[in-house]
Amino acid sequence: MQETSSIHGAWASRWIFILAATGSAVGLGNIWKFPYITGENGGGAFVLIYLFCILIVGVPIMMAEVLIGRRARQSPINAMREVAIESGHSGKWSAVGWMGVLAGFMIFSFYSVVAGWVLYYIAGMGTGDFIAIGSDDAGKVFNNLLADRDTLIIWHSIFVVMVMLVIAGGVQKGLENAVKFLMPALFVLLIVLLGYSMQSGGFQQGWGFMFHFDASQLSWDAVLTALGHSFFTLSLGMGAIMAYGSYMPKKASIGSAVLTIAAMDTLVALIAGLAIFPIVFVNGMDPGAGPGLMFITLPVAFGQMPGGQIFGFIFFLLVGIAAWTSAISLIEPATAWMVEKFGWKRLPSCIFLGVIIWILGVAALGSFNFLSDVKLAGFNIFDFMDFVTSNIMLPLGGLFVAIFAGWFMKRYASEHELAISSPTLFNAWYIVLRFIAPVAVAIIFILNLIEKLK
Ligand code: PFF
Repeated sequence: MQETSSIHGAWASRWIFILAATGSAVGLGNIWKFPYITGENGGGAFVLIYLFCILIVGVPIMMAEVLIGRRARQSPINAMREVAIESGHSGKWSAVGWMGVLAGFMIFSFYSVVAGWVLYYIAGMGTGDFIAIGSDDAGKVFNNLLADRDTLIIWHSIFVVMVMLVIAGGVQKGLENAVKFLMPALFVLLIVLLGYSMQSGGFQQGWGFMFHFDASQLSWDAVLTALGHSFFTLSLGMGAIMAYGSYMPKKASIGSAVLTIAAMDTLVALIAGLAIFPIVFVNGMDPGAGPGLMFITLPVAFGQMPGGQIFGFIFFLLVGIAAWTSAISLIEPATAWMVEKFGWKRLPSCIFLGVIIWILGVAALGSFNFLSDVKLAGFNIFDFMDFVTSNIMLPLGGLFVAIFAGWFMKRYASEHELAISSPTLFNAWYIVLRFIAPVAVAIIFILNLIEKLK
């Protein structure tokens, strides 16, 4: 097997693949989630573990996902099956793809809710709701929003429709244009925010919080969160990158593309943290404030900046777009599978999927109002979806991909796809994938479990 093209189409060039995968990777995980979980887990030590996980676990597994996708040129469910059969193993490896599709739905449920908040803030910034707002009032605006079921449903629904429109049109057209211009723009605005926070008076404290290593802050729980987040932020462990890899041109180098994507993703997360924490400290806010962190701190910063209303508007707009280009990739594996399996067109497939994710999203947003009493394993629905996907399903999916590519897939197939000219580099990747990455994931899982059972 060495398919030359996918029935779903192909990226026009290596760069478009890099942009699309970066569009998937850079999203709410970087700008919303990374700062708040860093805040909740004590700062520097957490950041260090996170960076370590990106490099040692994330990058090699991302290479494996891309190469499996490109070899089979099919949706992750079918790609896992085909490549397993090609290597003389059971087609049941497709279960990894199935778990990924399920994880994609579950992530989408809370992702769409947060993206809905972003859309609400775009509108709020646009109409001047946040001019000169203080931190208490910013907190109130956010909490009122959470309590307002109908408003949340409206913005969540708009986001679902936005995602489905792109999916229905095919990934290439919509996505290429979005990421080509908007990702660089987001980057520039983050730098503007960074500039603001550098002169806000809290920069040193923010920097210290993020980069001062204090081992006493670390628990196995924090390490698992860092590991899980490294999968989440790189869109790994659920097939999104595998699906995008299946549209990648044959000759493009996987290794350098993956390094570029991981580097851009990490840079955006670190800059977002450095932009947010100084504002937190200068305004006496709590870095461990949780999911509301970005929505409470940034309006305060924008409210005080000259021209802040416009910057704030553009900033939230770009975060919304980053969320959009990520959310698309959450549903692409399921869409591609439906097209392959039933021979449906993309439109009916995505209407069908759209209904499912809309319902799941309404359940997740209900956590803050009409379903706040519903608890799953002690979590509300929103937190449950987040916890189970990031901390269990994605690392498990990644672990299976590593074990599959390292131990089951024929070595020559990987060698052929990666086409790394230096045998030493290939061997380094192979060793990390076979031994280091799976062992690291397994150890973190097990120690976390032991800590929980204590
Ligand atoms: N990587 C995205 C983010 O950091 O916001 C989230 C995500 C997208 C996770 C796609 C998983 C995925 F398949």
